[in-house]
Amino acid sequence: MTKVLLTGATGYVGGEVLYNLTHSSLDGLQISSIVRSGDHAKQLQAAYPNIRTVVGDLDDVALVKREAESADIVLHLASTSHVASAKAIADGLQARSKNTSSPHYWIQISGATCYAVEEISSGKFGFASDEIFDDTRDQEDIVTLLRKNTKRVVENTVLSQSPSTVKTALIIGPLIYGAGRGPVNQRSVQAPEIVKTTLKLGHGFKLNKGQNIWSNIHVQDLAYLVHSLVSAATNAQDGLWNHDGVYNAENGKMTFEHLNTLIANEAHKQGLIKQDAKAKFDTIDAAKADAMSDHAAVLWGTNARTVASKARQKLAWRPSAPSLEDTIPDLVHGEAEGREK
Ligand SMILES: NC(=O)c1ccc[n+]([C@@H]2O[C@H](COP(=O)([O-])OP(=O)(O)OC[C@H]3O[C@@H](n4cnc5c(N)ncnc54)[C@H](OP(=O)(O)O)[C@@H]3O)[C@@H](O)[C@H]2O)c1
Repeated sequence: MTKVLLTGATGYVGGEVLYNLTHSSLDGLQISSIVRSGDHAKQLQAAYPNIRTVVGDLDDVALVKREAESADIVLHLASTSHVASAKAIADGLQARSKNTSSPHYWIQISGATCYAVEEISSGKFGFASDEIFDDTRDQEDIVTLLRKNTKRVVENTVLSQSPSTVKTALIIGPLIYGAGRGPVNQRSVQAPEIVKTTLKLGHGFKLNKGQNIWSNIHVQDLAYLVHSLVSAATNAQDGLWNHDGVYNAENGKMTFEHLNTLIANEAHKQGLIKQDAKAKFDTIDAAKADAMSDHAAVLWGTNARTVASKARQKLAWRPSAPSLEDTIPDLVHGEAEGREK
């Protein structure tokens, strides 16, 4: 059996990965999950009686270290920025390497705002950019960008692991969309919050010019990428990890003006707002965006344009879920339902 420690199983990303791994052809995985709330642990256990649920917080570093030490593969999907748990995972996996010769792996979720550091620091939101980051062509630049960013402690902890003791992969998540199939949270943030704000305002909007672009990936395809890496780990495949193990995930891109227009038109079509984007589409500034939704200036106003060539080339990863545009009717409907509850 391959022992897998999964964090974030009650979350959007981790829940979908759990769904994927437990409904897939990958055999012999024994999954454990650290869950901080007793109620969520019960929900998880009821939906997945075969996984081992450990109640505890990621701040409990002794627990995280112990659990990592007994895992062959750690999937840290709860957070891109929880430093204490990342360091505890590193400690646990390094301690494990002293007692076993079999390889062990750490797959870590990261976020594509790492590509927008300059825009964030200069407060430039809503404008076009020519920068595109291809994870094969630009691998060295991406690693350097992460290494230079002292705020990215989790990513740097991952990148500083010695390949001879811990094999790592970082997955840089872009705008993730689509309903998750996990046991608790099935909702993403970026696009759903645009819908929520559109419904609240009663009309469409863009942040400044709205010409900025994020790449995007359906949550099922993101989970499939994690699955592909888990499969590669169980087969001890080489050439995929550590310095070579920084992965973008994308299967499309859109300007935010276009995304917000599609959302406003769909909300109008579903009778949720009175005017479509042609009739009323306001420009808001960063302060108003932040007042409407947490961190919205950064999440709706920056550029994060990526190419995921590495997973396609090295893992034969082929995203196949519906496009962002195709999921907008369900997204708008779901947010309207949630609002009415
Ligand atoms: N969604 C996206 O589009 C996207 C894109 C790129 C990167 N990311 C990043 O990926 C990470 C996961 O995203 P998500 O959308 O899956 O978030 P989410 O739905 O909020 O899930 C977070 C998960 O982590 C767990 N968790 C958080 N803090 C914890 C703690 N201190 N102790 C134990 N468990 C803890 C939560 O448990 P509870 O159930 O108890 O809350 C939940 O299971 C986040 O850092 C997010 O910023 C997300």
